[in-house]
Amino acid sequence: MPHGSMIGRRAPLMGLAVLYLLVTACGSDPVVPTEPSFPIIPAHLSQVPVPSDNPLTPVKVDLGRRLFYDKRLSSTGTVSCASCHRPEKAFSDAPNQVSRGVNSALGQRNAPGLVNIAYRHAFFWDGRAASLEDQAMMAFLGSTEMDADTFAVAALMRSEVYRNAWAASFGDTAVTMRRVMMAIASFERTLVSANSRYDRYLLGEKNILSDQERRGMQLFFSAKTMCGACHGGQDLTNDQFQNVGLFNHYFDRGRFNVTKDPRDEGLFRTPSLRNVALTSPYMASGDSDKGPLTTLEQVVAHYNDGGTPFNNKDKRVRKLGLTDAEMADIVAFMKALTDSSVMNRTEWLAP
Ligand code: HEC
Ligand code: HEC
Repeated sequence: MPHGSMIGRRAPLMGLAVLYLLVTACGSDPVVPTEPSFPIIPAHLSQVPVPSDNPLTPVKVDLGRRLFYDKRLSSTGTVSCASCHRPEKAFSDAPNQVSRGVNSALGQRNAPGLVNIAYRHAFFWDGRAASLEDQAMMAFLGSTEMDADTFAVAALMRSEVYRNAWAASFGDTAVTMRRVMMAIASFERTLVSANSRYDRYLLGEKNILSDQERRGMQLFFSAKTMCGACHGGQDLTNDQFQNVGLFNHYFDRGRFNVTKDPRDEGLFRTPSLRNVALTSPYMASGDSDKGPLTTLEQVVAHYNDGGTPFNNKDKRVRKLGLTDAEMADIVAFMKALTDSSVMNRTEWLAP
């Protein structure tokens, strides 16, 4: 029997035994401790969906965290997931418009933040990955991301560095790349947070938003702007694919690449706006016909102008006629979506 799995299985039992002794030593009836829910989900968020073949366990999440930050997973030993998804930027690659992977290879798209990523059901701007496990595999193998050498990674998993954590996570020492991705995806599912001032407002702290932010919120969720129609719900996204008129010709065809349906040409998944103030530049390409969109002011000005004409542009993106003050209000509201705790939660940082 592998050494690591014994450690992994015995440790929680020993913990319980100690607790039992402590409780009985006090003379009262032993109370069976109820497991705290894992990960900790803010009360106003729904439970994180977890696939049945990859249950969330603390040991596997911790293994996933180590893998997420480990550059040895890339062919050159220079790039980890965290190279492009950094905690201080809400796990985006701000301020880079597109990211550099192994050998400084340039990708095509802007790296999104990963907070509350577990709630999405299609991953990447075009939704081409159906699960976080599949998504991680694509990043891991992608020639402009990590370009992994799977033999080298397997050897690393079998080495002293990971052997024990591996056995504790999976119950045996069989190494597969799928399991590497299962651990990374488990870590990503714990990146759950909703402690922005907007969240606190929703939870009843009515004075936590300034007058300006409240005006911005009303405009954001109004029929006049329609922002909330696409950026609504828990994570300020409807998870649909849409075109917001950034270009009159899309070199990156977006959702079309997945469906081959001409109506999907130039459509991209509506991004969550949580922590959006930390993740500049904006949009799938970080760019538009009028130049890169690096500030929220530029994004709001883009919507106010109605966008560049394009046959698949959504009807809700049209001239809005907002005043400068109203545009500033909407920007102020979006800045209230920042949850600064995401930058320094120790359980999310490099181990
Ligand atoms: C070289 C930079 C780079 C590296 C390394 C990288 N990513 Fe990404 N990541 C990106 C970019 C760029 C995108 C958007 C690409 C697209 O939509 O086609 C992305 C998208 C994602 C998404 C989808 C987000 C969403 O909103 O749909 C997840 C999840 C993710 N990455 C996790 C990872 C994990 C896990 C790793 C390590 C195995 C990793 N990334 C490595 C740059 C990177
Ligand atoms: C028709 C749906 C729709 C409407 C209406 C809409 N958005 Fe968007 N929004 C999107 C989509 C889709 C994207 C990504 C587009 C792309 O990359 O091509 C996006 C991107 C953004 C981004 C960039 C986020 C990032 O991480 O890159 C911001 C900020 C934003 N929208 C704010 C707003 C505001 C403010 C309004 C109202 C004035 C608004 N949106 C109206 C669908 C919409």
